[in-house]
Amino acid sequence: MAGLQWGGRFASTPDASLLAFGSSLGDDLFIARFDALCSLGHVAALRGGGIISDDDAAVLTDALNVVSAEIADGSFNAWAIGQSFEDVHGAIDARVRELAGKAGERLHAGRSRNDQVATTLQLYAREMATNGARLALDIAALCEDRATVALERQTLLAATTHWQPAQPVLLALWLDALAQSFVRAAERFVSVAADATRFCPLGSAALAGSSLPLDRDAAARVLGFAAPSRNSLDAVGDRDVVLDLLNAVMRATVSASRASEELVIWATPAFGYIRLDDAASTGSSLMPQKRNPDPFELVRGAGARSIGTYAGAVASINGMALSYHRDLQETKSLVIHGVGAGLAALDAFRRAFAHVHFNHVEMTARAGAGYTVATDLADAVILAGATAREAHRAVGERVLAAEEEGRPLDREDARRLGVPEAPVDPLGSVLGKRTSGSTHPDAVAASIAQTREEMAALSKGLS
Ligand code: ARG
Repeated sequence: MAGLQWGGRFASTPDASLLAFGSSLGDDLFIARFDALCSLGHVAALRGGGIISDDDAAVLTDALNVVSAEIADGSFNAWAIGQSFEDVHGAIDARVRELAGKAGERLHAGRSRNDQVATTLQLYAREMATNGARLALDIAALCEDRATVALERQTLLAATTHWQPAQPVLLALWLDALAQSFVRAAERFVSVAADATRFCPLGSAALAGSSLPLDRDAAARVLGFAAPSRNSLDAVGDRDVVLDLLNAVMRATVSASRASEELVIWATPAFGYIRLDDAASTGSSLMPQKRNPDPFELVRGAGARSIGTYAGAVASINGMALSYHRDLQETKSLVIHGVGAGLAALDAFRRAFAHVHFNHVEMTARAGAGYTVATDLADAVILAGATAREAHRAVGERVLAAEEEGRPLDREDARRLGVPEAPVDPLGSVLGKRTSGSTHPDAVAASIAQTREEMAALSKGLS
C-alpha cells in the first residue's frame, strides 16, 4: 500500500475493495490543479514559520511547479490512475516525494488533508464561480443584443399565462426578462467568488490547529485570501462556499431550463416563432423530415439534474457534526459533478441560443390572436369611469360576441363600450402602456440600458 499517507499503527493492510470504495481520486483529478496550488500555499507557511529551510522551500516549489505542469498536460492523471491512492492529496504528495526527495518528505508537516481539501475547494470555487459569472453575462449580452434589434423592429409577441394568449408584449420585453435573470445569476456567482477569497483554512490542520509555528498569513497571501480562517473546527468542516456555488449553478441552470421550454415550443411548426440553425439541430434516425431542438431539451432536463445534485449535496451535510467527517467526500463529489454538468449546460445554452433566428413577421402577425387586447379595452372603460367589475363584464361580453361571430375585437366593439379611441390592435396595446417596467418601448429601452450598465459593472469586476 505504497500510495497511502498512513499505516504505521496498522498491523495489517486494508481490504483493497474497501480502499477502492473509499478512494476519491477519480473525482479529485478535476480539482488536482487547485490542490497543487494549495500545497504551494502550505510551503509558504512552512517557510515563513522557519519549519523548513529556504533551500527546501525552493526544491518543494520547483517540484510542485513540475506537478502543476504534469497536471496540465495530462501526464499526472495518467500516472496517478491505477495506483492505490486514496485521493489526489496523497497522489500529489507521492509525486512531490519522487521529485524532491528528502525535502518532499517535509511537505506534509503541520497539515492534514482536512484543511487541505477545504482550501482546495475554495480555490476551485473561486475559478468555477468566475466561469459561471462569465457564462451568465455572455448569455445576458446575447439576450440584450437581440432585444435591441427586436425593439427597433417593434416585434410583437402574444405573451401567455397558463400557455394561453394573455397580452401583446414586445419580444424585447421577453429577451430583457431573460437577460435580467442571467444578470442575477452572474451576481450570485460573483458573490460566491468573493466569498471564496475571504478565509484560508490552511493551518487549521486536522481540526485543532497546529503546534508548529506555521505562517498562516503567508499561506493566505500566496493563495489570494484576505486572511487565515479564525476557527479551525469550522474551517475543516465548512462547505458553505461550494454549496453556494452549486446553488448559483442550479439557479442559472433553472433559468436556462425555463427559457429552453419556451424555445422548444416556439420552434414547433405549430408556433413557427423561431428557426434553429442546422448547427444546433438534430435529426431522427427514422423520420427523414425531422429537425429537433435537442440542445434546448437537454438544457431543460439539466435544470432537473442540478436541483437533484444541490439537494443531494446539502443533504449530505445535514445532521453532520462539526469538523471533518468522511461524508464530506460525497459532498465534494456532488459539487464537482454538479458544477461541471451545470456549467456545461449553460455553455450549451449560450451556443444554441446564438443559433436561434426569430421570425419577427410571424410573431408580430399572431400577437393579437386570442383577444389579447381585451385588457386594454377594459382599462379604457375604467378610465372612462366604470368600476373594474363593470368593465370586465362589458368587455367579456364583447369577446363572447366576437368569438361567436368568428372575428377579432374591432373598432365597433370599442365604440359600443363607449371608448372609441381605445386600442384594438396589439401595437396600440403596447404603446398604450404607461407604467414603468411595462412593455411600452420606452420602458423596455430604459430597462435594457439599465441592465447593460449592471452587466458592464459586473464584467469589470471579473477582468
Ligand atoms: N479524500 C478526502 C476527501 O475528499 C480527503 C480528506 C480525507 N481526510 C481524512 N481525514 N481521511 O474529503
